Amino acid sequence: MALIGPSMMCADWGNLKESIRQLDRGGADFYHFDIMDGNFVPNFTMGPDLLRTLRAYTDKPFDIHLMVEEPERYIDMFADAGANWISVHAESKTHLQRALQQIRGRGLKAGVALNPSTPLSFLEYVIDVTDYVCLMTVNPGFAGQTFIPSMYRKISDLREMIQANGVHPEIQVDGNISFEAIPQVLEHGASWLVCGTSSLFRSDNLEQAASELKSFVATARKMI
Ligand code: DX5
Ligand code: ZN
Repeated sequence: MALIGPSMMCADWGNLKESIRQLDRGGADFYHFDIMDGNFVPNFTMGPDLLRTLRAYTDKPFDIHLMVEEPERYIDMFADAGANWISVHAESKTHLQRALQQIRGRGLKAGVALNPSTPLSFLEYVIDVTDYVCLMTVNPGFAGQTFIPSMYRKISDLREMIQANGVHPEIQVDGNISFEAIPQVLEHGASWLVCGTSSLFRSDNLEQAASELKSFVATARKMI
């Protein structure tokens, strides 16, 4: 089952309540929040107080992508604000296995995020305690970038690693997930799609955009 998750850093921040209402009606499956600290990536976005406000507008899962150094410091903060899934970067200053245990300890899905150049070997001793792997398909920090073609092979390599280990984490892809890329990332094994300016936030009618995107993904999935 392929899921679509609006990347909320791409939304109209002056109209988030209405945007979420429209996206919910259009069939969004989860909401992806890129949390940036200006240190792990050279950008800033949103914090737990905004998340707490938005939590009241939908029951769909909130997926928190911690693009920060020392993410353990923030897991409880975002869990308390209403997160359902939290991913942390294997490249950040962190004790990765302990961070994943901490996320699961709060009853949330635990994810590992990998930058494009980071090898899958970083997952070797934590794949068994990972609920999803967020493969960055652009370099992290900004929307509107270009998909890195070698990430197609990385997705299928990860699918093979998952099968070889007899585990079942979802494969999430994040960055320039366009209508051109979607059939290919699905074919290579991705199931959770982070959708930003490339495929979703391109019109004011987000309900229609989400609904059309959902149909496109369902059709692409059937063609595999
Ligand atoms: C990049 C972010 C992505 C991005 C997706 O650092 O993690 O979520 O905003 O949006 P587009 O489709 O513009 O790449
Ligand atoms: Zn992200």
